[in-house]
Amino acid sequence: MEPVTEDNITDLALARWNTAHDPRLAEIMTAVVRHVHELAREVRLTEAEWMAAMQWLTRTGQISDDKRMEYILASDVLGLSMLVIQMNHQFDQRATPATVLGPFHIEGSPELEFGGDMSEGVPGQPLFVHGSVRDIHGNAVGGALLDVWQADTDGAYESQLDVDEARLRAQYRTREDGSYCVRTIAPKGYSIPMDGPVGELIGRTDISHYRPAHVHFLVTADNCEPLITHLFQDGAEYLDSDVVFGTKAELLVPFVERDAGTTPDGGKSTEPWVEAHYDFVLQPT
Ligand code: BEZ
Ligand code: FE
Repeated sequence: MEPVTEDNITDLALARWNTAHDPRLAEIMTAVVRHVHELAREVRLTEAEWMAAMQWLTRTGQISDDKRMEYILASDVLGLSMLVIQMNHQFDQRATPATVLGPFHIEGSPELEFGGDMSEGVPGQPLFVHGSVRDIHGNAVGGALLDVWQADTDGAYESQLDVDEARLRAQYRTREDGSYCVRTIAPKGYSIPMDGPVGELIGRTDISHYRPAHVHFLVTADNCEPLITHLFQDGAEYLDSDVVFGTKAELLVPFVERDAGTTPDGGKSTEPWVEAHYDFVLQPT
């Protein structure tokens, strides 16, 4: 029997995990072993620190459920989610870039017509987000589906509240000329959930725990790569310090204040409203 030492433990563990039946699993697990052993060696990890890490992972699992995904939040604040997105969505320069999905997307939002109001009953300043969906050659994409969701002005998403009806989320289809029009309320910057293990760690740093004001979009169309992205209010607070590293210059949109009167859906607003114009450009498959 070979004695286990600080010097040979990594090779012994690598040999074991290299037996994974799926070659890709073997590749990933041996990389995990190399990197976690290297981490422990680099910082000379103590037993108390190892136990603190195990307890943090346990609490992260305990607070997670199908509505609260604390491990995804951990991945987001470590920059891992954006790294994976950057590596896997190397779109044409003309295409709208992707950003984080976040933990608050809900499947099966109601489909609304052009200009339909996804904020009905929720207080806030009316916002019209409108423009078109095109391919990288500038051709209109008719029939594209825009799945849209956002937080209310207190920073709460539907899944964080006890509500029965769809709230601040909807799906819209582009018209034949590629045009779309979303009616909602102007979003505000908000804090990520700070009452769990991720917040506990962030609270021990100088990291800002806020996200800049944004609306989420998942745009799908035939023969195009699905696009998961946000539109951010240009000039909003926290753009330079987004806690999940999600901001991109191409996704900043001016939110222009408009007086009461005609709105982009051809209707009329009796109160001042905000206009955000954006043309999404999809990457072909
Ligand atoms: C969001 O934008 O909804 C979000 C993204 C990552 C972490 C927390 C929230
Ligand atoms: Fe969000």
